[in-house]
Amino acid sequence: MRAISESKTPLLSGLLKHAQAGYLSFHTPGHKQGQGAWPQWRQLLGDQAFQLDLTELSGLDNLQDPQGIIKRAQERAAGYYGARETFFLVNGTTAGILAVLLAKSRPDSKVILPRFSHQSVIHGLILSGAQPVYLPGRSHKVLGLPGHAAASELDICLEELGPEGPLVVLLHPNYYGLVGDLRQQVQVAHSRGCKVLVDEAHGAHFKTSTLFPVPALDTGADFVAQGAHKVLGAFTQAAFLHCQGEGDTDGIRDSLRMVQSSSPSYLLMASLDVARCQCQQEEDKWAEAARLGEKLRQQISQIPGITAPGEEVLEVPGVKEYDPTRLIINVRGLGITGFEAADWLCRQYRILVEMADFQNMVLILSPGVFDYISVLLEALSSLAAACSTRVGNITSFPDPLGLALPQQEMTPREAFFAKGSFVPWESACGKIAGEVITPYPPGVPVICPGERFGEEVLEFLKEWDAVGGAWPGQSRGLIKIVAGS
Ligand SMILES: Cc1ncc(COP(=O)(O)O)c(C=O)c1O
Repeated sequence: MRAISESKTPLLSGLLKHAQAGYLSFHTPGHKQGQGAWPQWRQLLGDQAFQLDLTELSGLDNLQDPQGIIKRAQERAAGYYGARETFFLVNGTTAGILAVLLAKSRPDSKVILPRFSHQSVIHGLILSGAQPVYLPGRSHKVLGLPGHAAASELDICLEELGPEGPLVVLLHPNYYGLVGDLRQQVQVAHSRGCKVLVDEAHGAHFKTSTLFPVPALDTGADFVAQGAHKVLGAFTQAAFLHCQGEGDTDGIRDSLRMVQSSSPSYLLMASLDVARCQCQQEEDKWAEAARLGEKLRQQISQIPGITAPGEEVLEVPGVKEYDPTRLIINVRGLGITGFEAADWLCRQYRILVEMADFQNMVLILSPGVFDYISVLLEALSSLAAACSTRVGNITSFPDPLGLALPQQEMTPREAFFAKGSFVPWESACGKIAGEVITPYPPGVPVICPGERFGEEVLEFLKEWDAVGGAWPGQSRGLIKIVAGS
């Protein structure tokens, strides 16, 4: 193996040095660097995985108060992304979002957020006790894609709230790779004295090339949570939290201690060190992936019945840019749903897509997929041929962003801690929800804890259920409500 450079990947290099020193382990973890591991398991993963799965030993630093190799690795990440300070996360982007909400909002404060927010934002509100104020969201009906609120809508929302300067949470990009006018939104929020947290779970690669949308840190966002495992080569759960401003890290370290393990995986942390280094060294490959995305859009759109929207996505409300490596493939013209198309690709070609909805599939491109693009094109042509005898277009589907916001009766925290009971969701009308229901995809909550469950939400869920849509908890058939509501 080529020598691992201390200056490029300080954390990995420190771990390797320790592993090679041949210490006798009388410490955690219990597999004793492989000596105590189940032999088949050890053989399967290889000795090195066990030797590097270390803990806070002398010279290996401590994530909760980094002074050595973790600190240096975090500084490299901050330097590359342009943050004042970067924290390594071993509990996903989720940990970063929870930590910022815990540190920067409280029971008597408000938090502005898009309705199309990931559940971790709602969970952060339950932890902090803050009251949500949702930004409107709209979809493009024909493309079936969710958009963003305009900066002017954020401004109106902040104006109505008065001078309290709530925390603003923004999503950049959404799951479909669509990006709003983040620069303008951050400017509006700052002009009204608000701090901005950006959920950039799907955008850790934006820094690599100007062919990608603007990275959230470059817009002046104060906190940016990035899922390095989602697009870069880091292990699953590994993520970054970047902080920009002076004093912004106050409280963040304490909150991170609450939402992360006190025994963080060194394999996950080393994978963050490596992912940042690889990203930095392979910027040209990422630019190539972006160009490939544009070329594929054109090639795929020539297949009868299939389109891969490019510039057209700029017609989606509030959308200003898109990630070219987030390939949306619309199969509506084939007379099948995105779910059916994804299932066909999996069965016939062993192609697994990131997600599917009623009319689209979403695929994530990266330098890791260059070798099998021709199979994808062949598979899509075969899919179109297999569907050529179908007639008629799929009609429209229920749109969660089309729903009016339900009446908020309690904060998510109050509803979460209120005495609850479970009722069949079909009979929840008029009750206050004790949990969030998020039909997936696209992952827009239709009811959040503390909101009154109205006819419209009920009708939506019935329709969604009838067309084969799902939501986590659906199989239970019950929804938690606030008892006596
Ligand atoms: C937009 C968005 N934000 C946050 C998260 C949470 O990220 P993680 O799974 O890294 O905790 C996800 C996960 O899918 C997501 O899609």
